[in-house]
Amino acid sequence: MSVISRRQFLKHAGNAATALAFAVGAPQITSASVLHGTTAPSNRINIGCIGTGNQGVQDMRAFLTEKDVQVVAVCDVNKASNGYKTADQFYGREPARDIVNNSYAEQIRSGIFRACDMYSDFREVLARADIDAVAIVVPDHWHAIMTIMAAQAGKDIYCEKPLSLTVEDGRNMVNAVRKSGVILQTGSHERSNGRTRFACELVRNGRIGKLKKITTVVGFWNKTAPMGAWTPMPVPEGFDYDMWLGPAPLVPYHKDRCLYNFRFILDYSDGQIANYGAHSLDIAQWGNNTELTGPIEFEDNGSEWPEDGLFDVAKVVKFRAKYANGVKLECITREDNVSCRFEGTEGSVEVGYGGFFTEPASLKTSIIGPDEIHLGSSLNHIRNFIDCIKTRQQPAAPVEVGHRSATVTHVANIAMQLKRKLRWDPESERFIGDDEANRMLSRPVRTSWQG
Ligand SMILES: NC(=O)c1ccc[n+]([C@@H]2O[C@H](COP(=O)([O-])OP(=O)(O)OC[C@H]3O[C@@H](n4cnc5c(N)ncnc54)[C@H](O)[C@@H]3O)[C@@H](O)[C@H]2O)c1
Repeated sequence: MSVISRRQFLKHAGNAATALAFAVGAPQITSASVLHGTTAPSNRINIGCIGTGNQGVQDMRAFLTEKDVQVVAVCDVNKASNGYKTADQFYGREPARDIVNNSYAEQIRSGIFRACDMYSDFREVLARADIDAVAIVVPDHWHAIMTIMAAQAGKDIYCEKPLSLTVEDGRNMVNAVRKSGVILQTGSHERSNGRTRFACELVRNGRIGKLKKITTVVGFWNKTAPMGAWTPMPVPEGFDYDMWLGPAPLVPYHKDRCLYNFRFILDYSDGQIANYGAHSLDIAQWGNNTELTGPIEFEDNGSEWPEDGLFDVAKVVKFRAKYANGVKLECITREDNVSCRFEGTEGSVEVGYGGFFTEPASLKTSIIGPDEIHLGSSLNHIRNFIDCIKTRQQPAAPVEVGHRSATVTHVANIAMQLKRKLRWDPESERFIGDDEANRMLSRPVRTSWQG
């Protein structure tokens, strides 16, 4: 077993020897040819699904529908339990393995399929030479380490949004992905939603005149946790809590800390600004043609924070920002969870979970001409990832785009915590003249973790 600090690891992200130092266990090879079908095994992409909880199972089911993909491994620190987003969700590595095996069993004459392997340590998945790509669908505090190690192991990566937990982690992820030349698709699936793309194309092609203001929406807390002092609980059997915490601080277990609820605790997430903002602020970046940069000024606009309790992320997100092109950006909390409204000198476009609205209404049937700006063609985020593994083209939400959108959420979260106006340099990815804010670009982390 190797012990190495997370900071050391991230610093030496480009060093293949570090990846080897992390690799444990002998590779377990399962042949892709066990699955009968129309796609030749040589043309099939073998996937390992890391994190099989609320979203991990959804992503995994999407991979299962692709005929040129085989899910050969699932990995989760939870063996099996309830307690995810809804009470009836029963997830973990065992249920995930059963879903995969049953799904493939339905496709073969014998009706028996047992070839999907199961792990609790993701390093064993990365060590398998037959695995082409991994889906990383774990809490945000694990995204950087897993992505960097997967890139070093040469695996293509589907990493859920928000791409990173901190700005520093995000930049390290970009560097590792670039260095190894692997494909990374960020799970910001609005990039593969035709309606969202059309909305951004309307803005980019000047249909609402000159863009002036963008208003984005994120959702409220949809869970409650014990307020005030809370009592630690025993770790349930079959749950590797130490490996769940990983790089995060060592704290006592409570059931409301882990499954799904991690998004309400700052050690593991930036809260709903990152959770939903990874969609709505990503759309803002896309429509504003600032997806490879970001705003230059951020300011709290009345965010509300809990006074005590286990959950400590913003309860109500409210900030404003300004881009170098003069466009103003606002973010508010509202029931419809994800929305982005673009206002220009001649009209407006709003798109999100609540619908698609334009002013004037005729914009909805506007045709984007062949010589105008088109923002891609993906209509299925998972399929787009698989196609890009094969063509080696950049996917709909590549790593730099995912990093820049996550950066907007992290920087805004810092402004909301410090409650003062912050000037941001998207080039150096540092605050201008604010040491305290710059120190928040990375998080205090457990100095070592052991797998
Ligand atoms: N694209 C979307 O719209 C969307 C929707 C929901 C969630 N997400 C993202 O998916 C990620 C997971 O969210 P969720 O709602 O599924 O959370 P979840 O808690 O339901 O699932 C996460 C799973 O990861 C497992 N896990 C934790 N640490 C692990 C480790 N070291 N190794 C292996 N497994 C580990 C947990 O046991 C759990 O089963 C988050 O980044 C979230 O933002 C994306």
